[in-house]
Amino acid sequence: MINRAIELIRNRSNPVVFTGAGMSRESGMRTFRGEEGLWKEYSPERLSSISGLREEPEVVWDWYKMRLMAGEGVKPHAGYRALTHLQKLKGHLPVITQNVDGLHSISGQTDVLEIHGSMRTASCLKKCGFSTQLSHEILKETPPLCPVCGTILRPDIVLFGESLPQETIARSYELAEECDLLIVIGTSVQVWPAAGIPFAALENGVDVIEINPARTELPHSESVISVRRKAGEILPLLVGLKE
Ligand code: OAD
Repeated sequence: MINRAIELIRNRSNPVVFTGAGMSRESGMRTFRGEEGLWKEYSPERLSSISGLREEPEVVWDWYKMRLMAGEGVKPHAGYRALTHLQKLKGHLPVITQNVDGLHSISGQTDVLEIHGSMRTASCLKKCGFSTQLSHEILKETPPLCPVCGTILRPDIVLFGESLPQETIARSYELAEECDLLIVIGTSVQVWPAAGIPFAALENGVDVIEINPARTELPHSESVISVRRKAGEILPLLVGLKE
């Protein structure tokens, strides 16, 4: 499996990367599902939904403050550096991510499609036009308020009950359908419509490499090369940075 993955990554000219929370696990960020996942301990309906934000803005903002603090000082691991290297090597390597931690961009990658938004910025819930980087200053108040119109701010993350950014998700599906290799890293492939991206690739005859220590919803088939390893361990080897 590993040799086949190395060969495909080396030889294909138009690959695309698709990542989830497992990509950032070795940088210290927690995943959502599984035994150690955030959703074992916290309620997504209460803490990560648009209705939760409207009903209990203090509770929701306390949770985002905690996640922001957990992300402070977090650094991209060797797997991120490997993807940055691969992007330079190929000249063109779009990265579709469900992650909101910004680590792909922090690693120097470009053409990053953040389909679930970003935890680094916030904007006015009433859409008056105000938006800001999230800083300790802004987070002194809970919930933080819009300095222009006084409404509460919201993190620029797609909350449950909201649609994904239409252009970004449409381009992501297009990229997955038209590429010649989709590299799927660290996602349980359970949250739609993001989860449909690898299936759209497979339906269009695209080979998929999956990097994940655990089994997922992706089928057993000739087109799916499953590398059951951790992203930070295996990506440097797959892109030729390590023997
Ligand atoms: P999940 O928590 O559902 O899945 C994480 C996956 O990463 C699992 O399949 C793990 O086996 C795998 N994993 C763990 N450690 C890994 C490692 N070191 N290397 C590679 N893989 C590893 O996270 P997502 O699939 O990203 O949505 O979840 C999708 C969405 O659900 C998130 O974007 C978030 C959440 O609710 C929103 O907030 C809208």
